[in-house]
Amino acid sequence: SIMKEFSSAPELEKQLAAALNLQSCNVVSGNADESDWVKSELGRACVSRLKEVIKEGQVISVTGGSTMNAVAEAFTEKLNKENLLFVPARGGIGADIKDQANTICQKMANKAGGNYTVLYSPDQVTKEFYETFIQESSIREVLMKIKSADIVIHGIGDAMTMARRRMTSEEDMQKLVQEKAVAEAFGYYFDENGRIVHKVQTVGLQLEDLKNIPHIFAVAGGASKAKAIKAYMKIAPKNTVLITDEAVTNEILKG
Ligand code: BG6
Repeated sequence: SIMKEFSSAPELEKQLAAALNLQSCNVVSGNADESDWVKSELGRACVSRLKEVIKEGQVISVTGGSTMNAVAEAFTEKLNKENLLFVPARGGIGADIKDQANTICQKMANKAGGNYTVLYSPDQVTKEFYETFIQESSIREVLMKIKSADIVIHGIGDAMTMARRRMTSEEDMQKLVQEKAVAEAFGYYFDENGRIVHKVQTVGLQLEDLKNIPHIFAVAGGASKAKAIKAYMKIAPKNTVLITDEAVTNEILKG
């Protein structure tokens, strides 16, 4: 395996960061596609990076997904700082409830001893719904919190896997195929050059909001996500810390 070709994980991490033009990344061993413990390791690695930056009173915004759930599982009271607030990055009713951003926020807050807010909104909304919904003062308040987050923790998905999970319409599916979508993050779909080819109208964090976020952690592993990670990292803010596994690293470094 690649772990043997390189002397150590820090060396591998440096190589991956250089290949993706990022300042920093973490590589855990294994392949998240093959074993659940790799996802748990990704969660633990994320928590230890978080511990280095998290401060009293900060707002942490998180997406949904099974990887984020693993991050929540790895949370401990050691992360506890006064007045932390966990907010879902986006509405996401429709997904498996344990993998919804709302549920994950609650779990993180409970484990770290902080507060949380919820954002009840379908994952995918119409333009009309969106315009009306964001006029609600309670929604506005949550959206302001989301956009002013100090820390964002998010997943990255393979485009087609996510499109299927979201029960995307036949029309949009065809568009994704035609445009050669390979990656998904925050409801945006990207081709291998990191070009946005489709966007699901969602309530919450938008891609352009990321440039104001001081600390960003992208957590994704499994060889099946290698293409997606490589594509998304082409447009990811440079302060994104990627937390991934050996299988992804292997795929990306072999080119
Ligand atoms: C979703 C995020 O909930 O999780 C997506 O909103 C991401 O942007 C996905 O692609 C990843 O899911 P998983 O289960 O592979 O961690």
